[in-house]
Amino acid sequence: MREPLLLEFDNYVYVQGRDLMDEESPTHPLFAEGTLPEVVAELRAKLRADQESFRPEVLNGPVAQGIRARAGQWFQRIDFPAHGISTTSDRAWVYFDEGGVNTLGKNLTSEEACLLRPLPKWMYLQKRIPPLEGKSILEVGSSNGFFPFRFAELGAKKITGIDVQKYKHESAVWANSILGWKMIEFRHSDFLVDLSIVPHDIVFSSEVINHTLCPLWAIARLVSLAKETLILDTGVFESKKHEMELSSGWSRDREKLYFLSFHISDGLLCSYLRILGFRASEIVKYEQRGADHTLYIIDTSGLHQRQDSGEIVEDLRRSLTMEWTLPGH
Ligand SMILES: C[S@@+](CC[C@H](N)C(=O)[O-])C[C@H]1O[C@@H](n2cnc3c(N)ncnc32)[C@H](O)[C@@H]1O
Repeated sequence: MREPLLLEFDNYVYVQGRDLMDEESPTHPLFAEGTLPEVVAELRAKLRADQESFRPEVLNGPVAQGIRARAGQWFQRIDFPAHGISTTSDRAWVYFDEGGVNTLGKNLTSEEACLLRPLPKWMYLQKRIPPLEGKSILEVGSSNGFFPFRFAELGAKKITGIDVQKYKHESAVWANSILGWKMIEFRHSDFLVDLSIVPHDIVFSSEVINHTLCPLWAIARLVSLAKETLILDTGVFESKKHEMELSSGWSRDREKLYFLSFHISDGLLCSYLRILGFRASEIVKYEQRGADHTLYIIDTSGLHQRQDSGEIVEDLRRSLTMEWTLPGH
């Protein structure tokens, strides 16, 4: 890797592989000092309560039939409290993998993380997101609908959940046919190419942009859709250097791509946000140190005002405002 550089010329300053200002954004711990053990204990108590309150007869009811019909699609745990059942009531319904960010930095086992997912994330998110009362909120990569259901409980006025996977989308629509939240719309779509998505007050996306073909473009797209706040929950390298690494998962015969993941450094992400026009003070970071996990809460309102007053460099302005040119125009 080349060494970072800062060179001063007569009429401009050139920076390579580093931030111009090295200005720190406000940074806080993801979990308040000393509270992670309590959070882990609370999550484990939830798993114990699942077992203690389990009634085998619920596995024969109509809600169980609906969950069973979508077995293997339950990446997220969806609870149906009025029916005493959850998508994890039968382990055969659950999607098991390594557990990712839901292990809370390997403080939960992969199995625990998958049985609870994404409740471990919700434990920190619910304390960090802005008030939702009366707001519109868009979740990109909404999977089985866990977060839209929480946003509805917190009083959001309008909630849109977008997911590109057909069966994930259908599972969320089915879950809401049981839960009955009228202000939620689930859409089966790819946010990178769906031009009909309208801006919302708040845009939330957790562990999605890294899986897209162009994660940096995905961030610009999310910024354009967020009128007030963009909440980006993602794994990043804890490094000030500009780094990006591509990982991918394949079938054992090496023929079929299952997923891709671009892992980027905090330094690259923050410098890129600064290139888009954000000020360091508009990006608030919540870090779980040692876990390569940072939650970014980005105030987008100032940027949109600056765009309107023409402050953004001309080369980037049309891309940043997503000023599409459609065929025939
Ligand atoms: C790792 S899962 C995370 C799900 C959920 N956000 C969570 O935190 O539990 C990524 C989700 O993003 C969705 N996704 C990936 N690329 C997308 C795209 N371009 N448009 C919409 N959804 C996308 C996938 O289908 C998948 O459901």
